[in-house]
Amino acid sequence: MSIVDKAKQAAQVVQQTVVKKAVELAPDSWVPGGKPDPLIGHAHAHIGKPVSRVDGPLKVRGEATFAAEFVHAGMVYASVAFSSVAKGRIATLDTREAEAAPGVALVMTYRNAPRMQPMPLFLTGEKAAGGDNLPVMQDDRIHWNGQPIALVLAETQEQADHAQSLIRVTYAPEPAVTTFAEAKAQGTEPGVFAGQPMKKEIGDAEAALAAAAVKVDAVYRTPRHNHNAIEPHAATVAWNGDELIVHDASQAVVHTAWSLASVFGLEEKQVHVTSPFVGGGFGGKSLWQHQVLAAAASKLVGRPVRIALSREGVFRMIGGRTVTEQRVAIGARADGHFDTIIHTGTAAMSRHNVLPEPFIQQTRGAYAASHFKLEVEVAYMDMLANTFMRAPGESVGTFALESAVDELAVALGMDPIELRILNEPKEDPTEGLPFSSRHVVEAWRTGAERFGWAKRDPKPGATREGEWLVGMGCAAATYPYNRMPGGAARITLTRDGHARVEIAAHEMGMGTATAQTQVTAERLGLELDQVTIVYGDSTLPGLVLAGGSQQTAAIGAAVAAAQHALVAELLKLAGKDSPLAGLKPDEVGGLDGGLAKLDAPERHESYQSLLARAQRDEVTVEANAPPPMEGMHWSMHSYGAMFCEVRVNAITGETRVSRFLGSFDCGRILNPKTATSQFRGGIIMGLGLALMEEAQFDERKGRIMNPSLAEYHVPVHLDVPTIDVIWNDIPDPHTPMGARGIGEIGITGTGAAVANAIYHATGKRIRDLPLTLDKLL
Ligand code: MOS
Repeated sequence: MSIVDKAKQAAQVVQQTVVKKAVELAPDSWVPGGKPDPLIGHAHAHIGKPVSRVDGPLKVRGEATFAAEFVHAGMVYASVAFSSVAKGRIATLDTREAEAAPGVALVMTYRNAPRMQPMPLFLTGEKAAGGDNLPVMQDDRIHWNGQPIALVLAETQEQADHAQSLIRVTYAPEPAVTTFAEAKAQGTEPGVFAGQPMKKEIGDAEAALAAAAVKVDAVYRTPRHNHNAIEPHAATVAWNGDELIVHDASQAVVHTAWSLASVFGLEEKQVHVTSPFVGGGFGGKSLWQHQVLAAAASKLVGRPVRIALSREGVFRMIGGRTVTEQRVAIGARADGHFDTIIHTGTAAMSRHNVLPEPFIQQTRGAYAASHFKLEVEVAYMDMLANTFMRAPGESVGTFALESAVDELAVALGMDPIELRILNEPKEDPTEGLPFSSRHVVEAWRTGAERFGWAKRDPKPGATREGEWLVGMGCAAATYPYNRMPGGAARITLTRDGHARVEIAAHEMGMGTATAQTQVTAERLGLELDQVTIVYGDSTLPGLVLAGGSQQTAAIGAAVAAAQHALVAELLKLAGKDSPLAGLKPDEVGGLDGGLAKLDAPERHESYQSLLARAQRDEVTVEANAPPPMEGMHWSMHSYGAMFCEVRVNAITGETRVSRFLGSFDCGRILNPKTATSQFRGGIIMGLGLALMEEAQFDERKGRIMNPSLAEYHVPVHLDVPTIDVIWNDIPDPHTPMGARGIGEIGITGTGAAVANAIYHATGKRIRDLPLTLDKLL
């Protein structure tokens, strides 16, 4: 980073700090969420009901069109060749045989690729979506092992793949940093995440640790994880003159459209990104080089292009979670109260991305203490850009923190749940902010009761059934409540009483359209079949990222604003004869297919009658959500208590998870059916993180060695027991609908719950993920 950039960043941090302080001190009523959303109540027609997915029938019939299923006339198929060195230059590149192969329409390399700007890196601009900011096939330089060096287009996928295999390339390699040890030895730099330094010091944490009556001080290691969504990354791309159309698999349609416009020197409105269905995102479905390459090749060849990455292609081109090494030290008094918490360490990072895996985030607010030292340092490696992956930071950060808390409980001879409850903070311990709503103690108590925690003999290795050592462990889960700026929605109400909500949001399989149908029907006083949610298209209103577990809140706030505008518009149209005459928008809400005075519901008029009298077929309004200042005013997080029972084979070291319970405190649950699936999915991913997931990195070559689901293990059905999920359903008074995010929290705490259960089963404390059998023998 240049001096100028550093100064700009410093100025930005100062400005953010001033705004943050002002919002902290503002009266509650000035802040979004200061007045509780009426939808947080429990007596509702739709919210809180286990509504089945509105997109379910389409998916079951195979009629939901995914990115690689759009068809354009004259379309050709893409196949990508990857570099096999980590750094250097392309020395020779012979494409003649590939060009002569059957069906080939184009071989694109740095020699003939159109001139393009690098992708704007995600988080460096309002609409930036890029996973890296490297030149995309613009020169002969290699930046990582797996970088695309050529793209072949052919009439069929098979012809493209075959021709791609005929490309001959040699390299002039240069020394590359491909080991974490070497990267650290070269010196680390302070991590900065979204403009916020990954560093917090309160008091003198090291001195307090030295003086502590009881302490733990250990290092935890977590490996690389790759994105393995069920739908590999894909895009179908076409140019219509100077307009670029991209059918993408995306968590960020508007960000992607703007970013592609920047890459190709177009106006934002010249790029149209659609993404009606996504087969899982988890942070990996942003803008990567494949969409750029497909668009560039399409332009060159003058035909539409479909690019569908192979599973190996995802491993080579799409970043994943990076390797971390974390020190956690906790110093406590003899009664168990924490005095000091230290959580520091290093994450590997490439020089062409901006994510210093923020593994200290959960530690900022987890427990009360007087002294804190939190810090993430980065060590640079020559590798594929690491990126966001479900609960970046917390997923691996909670493994370290919650393992350490368990170790401290052992050292104190205390129950690990009681130790956590003893150290519950009354306000945010590092920010000093009040919590918006924190009822994790209740989640602990309910969960412990349901799981049968009281039956647990605290002594490790005490329970054996034949060859199997049985253990129970627990850990806290947490993920912040986020609501990003940019939410906006358009509502069109037709005379037949049907509402269409349009918003540039995303359905990645979690039930966005279903939950928002419920929310909209509730707000407007309609039935579910009177509401249609239109989403997954960059031309729709709003800038809504399906990430940070924030999409539901972002849409909810936008729909609330649009409903308010709709009520105002309808009251204007109502006229003197309406039972609603003279009422103000704040006095009126949706009820029974129309509007009613909130405290006098007999003053009601149906939408049909309102529009008929005004002689209107429809009314359309559009509104922006208020800026998300609630997160600066309150400390806002989702919470959970995770319980795991494992059976570890005393002979083979094999671990089997036999029971798992997640007990959550995530505010109002909008749809128990889709929510249960979200929580379970997160926990299953957490079981993978705990027991098997590891992108194995050849440190000689910087190449990922296991780029397939045969060698990169994720949990399959037999690895996953019945997962019990419960929640307390206590609405957060300061969020839209009283709901907080649930998309990422399931993966947090799960790794530690498994590790702590393994310790309890065997007496062996493993601090390196994954917890494979070789480490247990
Ligand atoms: Mo998520 S890693 O914010 O998609």
